[in-house]
Amino acid sequence: MTENLSVEQRGLRESATYDRTTIAAIQRAAETGIYDIRGWGAKRKLPHFDDLLFLGASMSRYPLEGYRERCDTDVVLGGRNAKYPLHLSTPVTIAGMSFGALSAGAKEALGRGASEVGTSTTTGDGGMTPEERGQSKHLVYQYLPSRYGMNPEDLRKADAIEVVLGQGAKPGGGGMLLGQKISERVAGMRTLPQGIDQRSACRHPDWTGPDDLAIKINELREITDWEKPIYVKVGASRTYYDVKLAVHSGADVVVVDGMQGGTAATQEVFIEHVGIPTLAAIPQAVQALQELGVHRRAGVGAGRDAVQLIVSGGIRNGADVAKAMALGADAVAIGTAALIALGDNDPRYAKEYEALGSAAGYYDDFQDGRDPAGISTQDPELAARFDPVLGGKRLANFLRVMTMEAQTIARACGKAHLQHLEPEDLVAITIEAAAMARVPMAGTNWIPGSGL
Ligand SMILES: Cc1cc2nc3c(=O)[nH]c(=O)nc-3n(C[C@H](O)[C@H](O)[C@H](O)COP(=O)(O)O)c2cc1C
Repeated sequence: MTENLSVEQRGLRESATYDRTTIAAIQRAAETGIYDIRGWGAKRKLPHFDDLLFLGASMSRYPLEGYRERCDTDVVLGGRNAKYPLHLSTPVTIAGMSFGALSAGAKEALGRGASEVGTSTTTGDGGMTPEERGQSKHLVYQYLPSRYGMNPEDLRKADAIEVVLGQGAKPGGGGMLLGQKISERVAGMRTLPQGIDQRSACRHPDWTGPDDLAIKINELREITDWEKPIYVKVGASRTYYDVKLAVHSGADVVVVDGMQGGTAATQEVFIEHVGIPTLAAIPQAVQALQELGVHRRAGVGAGRDAVQLIVSGGIRNGADVAKAMALGADAVAIGTAALIALGDNDPRYAKEYEALGSAAGYYDDFQDGRDPAGISTQDPELAARFDPVLGGKRLANFLRVMTMEAQTIARACGKAHLQHLEPEDLVAITIEAAAMARVPMAGTNWIPGSGL
């Protein structure tokens, strides 16, 4: 009688190669004949910020008093060429997420939350909505290969421009927005038919390399009177070379998005198998900027010719922010965590997630447009469930907590500004993380791969 025994008690053994997820994927492919598309970023376990720890001060270093001594958090982005660089109160910014992928209310809430704490938010594939512009103090306008929703008027309304070359979830790939999310309004902004799947281009139509990009960037500067910082965003892969070329092309700010980075909709095979982890990308980017002599941190005393580095991909809390900055980022961007703060994957909707074949905490079917929380949908009834004012407040709270957490760590390391965190403050607890982040294994001076 084995029916009352668990699988382990029955001595059954799950294959590490053919685990249940793999079996289900093969069965799904066999049944449907189509590949799996989903949102979120890579779900496999990768070397990440959790594999790093800070060395708090004690005798050899002097900590700062938690609630009494200053630890500043401001950052200036894009002072290299722009007349009006962005002055942000916190280095935690909101990443580009498209209207189309997200409801208009969710986009508005991102602007409200970011503005409340003095940081920036970003448009996305599909253009700028008036609600988003209206509620965003600092709005970065994405200039994407698809050019969906792109118009020079909106370009001039933006506070910065982000030329998107790629995303960490899919370096080398373009966007996807399935027909069920192409409402009349989304279709109108993209000048494409309603209800038909849209696959955005994976490369820009009018330039093929860094020299052409330099011309394009100059065009963008001319159209906007040299007022706005120009960012270049790349998905993490050959990061050292990509960052060097981005700077060569004239970027004021480089955004590097690692493979844990979220997406609204991409092939599962792409998300899990293309790109490199965020942790591996940061030191490569920093090395490139240092070799070009432009890795001077923004803020007080920063040189005019500094190029700032924004890092994204799997940033979830203040510890991640502090670790990214210690490794050399000037600021970070968040996507998935911001959506969760708005109410994505909320257990209040547990039953509805289950009805969709998912569960609260697992829901990644952003492509479907049936999000019970009203965030990744264009369905008017579902979208009406979402309150942009409340969502904005929740996001502002979350951004405040992240900033205070990062300050807590910085003070413990004796730093009076988040920008003062440095690689020397970090150790790693796995060999992989030590090698990728280029910091020593805890308790040793050993950086694998460095010869030290
Ligand atoms: C719903 C959603 C929509 C997105 N849309 C865009 C987009 O339009 N353009 C873009 O460059 N990146 C887009 N991204 C990627 C984000 O800008 C960012 O790189 C990524 O979310 C960062 O990783 P994180 O989600 O782990 O914070 C999107 C991400 C999500 C989750």
